[in-house]
Amino acid sequence: MITETKNTLPKEICDFIDVCLTREHPESYLIAVLHKLQQQFGYLTREHMDEVAQRLHVPASFVSGVATFYHFFRLQPRGKFSISVCLGTACFVKGADKILDAFRAELGVDLAETTKDGLFSLDCTRCLGVCGLAPVVTINDKVYSQVTPQQVPDLINRAKADLETTETKV
Ligand code: FES
Repeated sequence: MITETKNTLPKEICDFIDVCLTREHPESYLIAVLHKLQQQFGYLTREHMDEVAQRLHVPASFVSGVATFYHFFRLQPRGKFSISVCLGTACFVKGADKILDAFRAELGVDLAETTKDGLFSLDCTRCLGVCGLAPVVTINDKVYSQVTPQQVPDLINRAKADLETTETKV
């Protein structure tokens, strides 16, 4: 059976895959291909992953398996607000896991997911280099220090209020 390759990938990604195909074990370049895609689009779509599978001559299930195994790959677009909870050692010993749980509960999403309204994406990071302020959370470019789980609803509400202010100004 002949399956048609849909052309949804940018030319430079196709060119990169073509180069990979000239190398030994082209499938070992899958992660590099997915990184390039995510850099360009911010996340991986089903359509793009299927085309990568076809072009690299690997099963689509292999591509989606890799994309879902590594938490740095995103399968959904990012929200307007990117929340990142630092899980580095200093933050972790000061309860960063509880803060992450509070965000999960409050937003109803897990790590690497985006809320249905497209407002918030939840991620974690390792040491932001400000361990003296632990535990630390960033929301877009704002850094919040010594955060407690009880402050999480307020942080979310502040972000929403910022959005309303910005929209009113426009
Ligand atoms: S461990 Fe969180 S800022 Fe260093």
